[in-house]
Amino acid sequence: MFSGFAWLLLAVVFTALISNHISSAHCQVPGWFGNGCRYQCHCVNSGACNATTGSCPNGCNPGWFGPACQYVSSKFSPSGTGSNLTWLTDNDPGTCNDGNLHTITLVLDTPQPLTWLRLVVNDPDLLNHFHDVQHQYIGILGCSAAKTARVDDHTIDVACDTTYAVSHVTLTGSRLETLCSLYISGGRNVALKQPAKLGSTFGEWTADKAVDGITHHQNTAQTCAHTLERPAWWALNFNGPVRAMQFKMFSRQDCCLEQLVGFQLDAFHKISDTINVFSYIDATSKLSRKIEYTITPTPIITKSVKRVYIAKSANSQYLTICELMVFGDSVCESSKFGRECERQCNCAGQKPCFVSTGGCPSGCAPGFMGQDCSIACPRGRYGSGCLKACSVHCDGRNKDCDARDGTCLTGCEPGYLPPKCDLKCNTSTFGKRCEEMCTNCLRGDCNHLTGKCKSCPPNFVGDYCEQAVATAKSVEEVAAGISNISVIVIVVVFVALCSAVTIISVCLIVKKSSARVPDSQYDIPMGPVTCGGQSESLPQNSQSQRDSYLFPSIMQPLPENIYEMP
Ligand SMILES: *[C@@H]1O[C@H](CO)[C@@H](O)[C@H](O)[C@H]1NC(C)=O
Ligand SMILES: *[C@@H]1O[C@H](CO)[C@@H](O)[C@H](O)[C@H]1NC(C)=O
Ligand SMILES: *[C@@H]1O[C@H](CO)[C@@H](O)[C@H](O)[C@H]1NC(C)=O
Repeated sequence: MFSGFAWLLLAVVFTALISNHISSAHCQVPGWFGNGCRYQCHCVNSGACNATTGSCPNGCNPGWFGPACQYVSSKFSPSGTGSNLTWLTDNDPGTCNDGNLHTITLVLDTPQPLTWLRLVVNDPDLLNHFHDVQHQYIGILGCSAAKTARVDDHTIDVACDTTYAVSHVTLTGSRLETLCSLYISGGRNVALKQPAKLGSTFGEWTADKAVDGITHHQNTAQTCAHTLERPAWWALNFNGPVRAMQFKMFSRQDCCLEQLVGFQLDAFHKISDTINVFSYIDATSKLSRKIEYTITPTPIITKSVKRVYIAKSANSQYLTICELMVFGDSVCESSKFGRECERQCNCAGQKPCFVSTGGCPSGCAPGFMGQDCSIACPRGRYGSGCLKACSVHCDGRNKDCDARDGTCLTGCEPGYLPPKCDLKCNTSTFGKRCEEMCTNCLRGDCNHLTGKCKSCPPNFVGDYCEQAVATAKSVEEVAAGISNISVIVIVVVFVALCSAVTIISVCLIVKKSSARVPDSQYDIPMGPVTCGGQSESLPQNSQSQRDSYLFPSIMQPLPENIYEMP
């Protein structure tokens, strides 16, 4: 019973947490956005801004730029006369340097440290070279230790690490002609809606009204913080550490400017610190009271700031602040970025990113693109910034590949080497996954798809050089030739012997018959063919002489009496 109730309670709490989270992420107050409506929209013409992200469909109001239009674009004017730089500051990427200006010096209205700048150019190719040889193309004097991150084809961010307040920025270089717009970051207001306290509160003039984003209002009570009694102080504790590069304070306009004059502002590295990292005492005389104060720490505050404390002298009862703005940025651990350090950098080599934009000097991690490297590659592309195309030799209809390394998801077409299928099979291989061998081709040189040889080694023919050709040149052939010759020799010798035996036999027969048939006319022609015509010529009177005729030769001249035979 109890456990069922506990579960129900848990479910209710859980649901409440979720719905609270959803409603707070999606701000309902017009002109504000984000978690708890903590951020102010700065869209052009006060147009609609995305209640979750603050992005402006039609761009930023003049004077604002960067992610969610949260960064102040510092005001500057060209030094000297004669040059009309309207194109540089009109927020219009379509109006550019006409090519005549090769050096531009800009004088900042208020000196400040340079943290980052955004350049818009009309030659995308320039951005490819910007990283390596910055000064040869567009140099920014005043921006030290520059690091760059590409935003899109025409936009590049340049982060600087200038440790002093810069009064002017000089742009030089051969490619200045391609420049169209320049934004110098004045930081974003990191004090907005941060937790604040007053020493004492005058009616409804609460502490938070000094960080409500409203500098002036007819009804001062709705927009200013005001103490009731001594000691007169106001304090702000940042949710997270910030880099503070400029303070702006606004006094009430309806009356009583002395309620701010002579204030002291202190900044602390930690909430509990008693020793400040920055202190400023207003020296404005009560006779020349101001509505707006701008304080630029010089040298810069190198430590991060967690607490700002503003107080009047001990004998003052009233302190009234209509707005305190602290321009700077979040200080995040190295792998994080964003207004609340809530986002993870996604840079190649796990390198740090710009805290303002998430931009990566090392380029996006493979598989991602976009100015904060958070957009996964579209289908068919891979690598850092999604700049490479999957191989057309990936197998399958879609030819998809892994967005990080280009490995084809369904293997390669035959003839191409896995994993990326962007190379033909190595020598001596062909076919699916290049697993088949064509080593019998001349130098293993075969068609990478079919394995057919380009040419064959000597004595081989066929598409795959699979057939041997017989010739005398090979050792076997020569051996075979030799045996053939022996056979021929044997046959010749055999025939010769046979012939000799036949001749002897015939001659013996002829000899017998010639002794027996001297009257026979018909016997005569038989002899001379095999016996060299000598049998008939044998002298009949000498048996021994006749016998001697059997072996000796045909060289002997024929006897004269051959025709004299009867
Ligand atoms: C606001 O931005 C988010 C994130 O990009 C998007 O999902 C949402 O649709 C946008 N809302 C409007 C009203 O455009
Ligand atoms: C500068 O140029 C713009 C347009 O190119 C023009 O509207 C403006 O009047 C010029 N300003 C000066 C001071 O010449
Ligand atoms: C192909 O050749 C390359 C370079 O010659 C070598 O690195 C690679 O291992 C070879 N691949 C195969 C599958 O033999």
